[in-house]
Amino acid sequence: MAFDFDRKDRTAFDLSGKVVVVVGAGQSPGPGMGNGRAISILAARHGAEIVAADVNVASARETVDLIRAEGGRAYAVPADVAKKEDCQRIFDTAMRTSGRVDGMVYSVATNPPFDSETNSMTVENFNYGINVNMLGCYYCNLFAAGCMEKNDGDTTGSIVNISSIASVKNELGLNIGIMPYALGKAGLNQITELTAVQFAEAGIRANTLMLGPIDSALANRETQSLFGVDADEAAARHSEVVKLRMGRATVWESAYAALYLLADESRFMTGQQIRLDGGATLVR
Ligand SMILES: NC(=O)c1ccc[n+]([C@@H]2O[C@H](COP(=O)([O-])OP(=O)(O)OC[C@H]3O[C@@H](n4cnc5c(N)ncnc54)[C@H](O)[C@@H]3O)[C@@H](O)[C@H]2O)c1
Repeated sequence: MAFDFDRKDRTAFDLSGKVVVVVGAGQSPGPGMGNGRAISILAARHGAEIVAADVNVASARETVDLIRAEGGRAYAVPADVAKKEDCQRIFDTAMRTSGRVDGMVYSVATNPPFDSETNSMTVENFNYGINVNMLGCYYCNLFAAGCMEKNDGDTTGSIVNISSIASVKNELGLNIGIMPYALGKAGLNQITELTAVQFAEAGIRANTLMLGPIDSALANRETQSLFGVDADEAAARHSEVVKLRMGRATVWESAYAALYLLADESRFMTGQQIRLDGGATLVR
């Protein structure tokens, strides 16, 4: 496929005609916006039709309503990514309704409950965390690639798996409370590389967008419960992860990074871990 990247008047990051599945397109309850929601809104503003999947379907529908209110196109699909059949249904629905899939963003996370007194977690909770943070990502990569392989052209699809610096940086020591999250995200990093290699011949790219502290409802709530502090203290602790004094980012910084990875402009980038973390992993 020929690209017109050198044209002065071309529209950058144009997703017109593309269908982008965002898994985790709703958001956790609470004030603020989630990364999946911001990514969905921004991709729709750039012309994509959005398939908004989430276990919290009411929240995914709110994202759809926000997109439609701006004149964009989107619909919601309920799915619990801990279940393989739900992952499959997301992509079956997208193919049946939209006829194609060009982009997939896996923006899901869970921190299963644990007992901070005894630093213990049930096996069921541990496994659920791994299933959501890692195994669901594997299935969504596999099923998304299966759809993208059907597209024509040299670049047939782009997969963006949202990871966390918790997968490479341990601030808390050996703490069972974050293990299903940190291990799951470390696995997600590997899944990205495997997908990139396995599907390169089919023209499919896969990249990890590894986030540092982002002001989202989930992060605020989790930081409060992990450290047992109030909202202001949680925001301060969250920002302090970034030693270079950049504070934390908003969901829009991550949305613009995801937009680049979804768009054809990033067609030479695959299998990479892009650290969007204000230098948090650079200076400890
Ligand atoms: N906010 C941060 O500081 C931060 C830092 C690093 C990484 N991240 C990553 O960003 C991504 C989005 O998180 P966020 O902070 O924007 O929170 P968020 O609450 O907006 O997004 C998480 C979404 O995942 C959905 N979800 C949870 N379990 C699910 C399941 N079983 N099936 C389907 N959907 C499920 C939730 O309903 C929610 O909509 C996650 O991958 C998270 O790990 C966030």
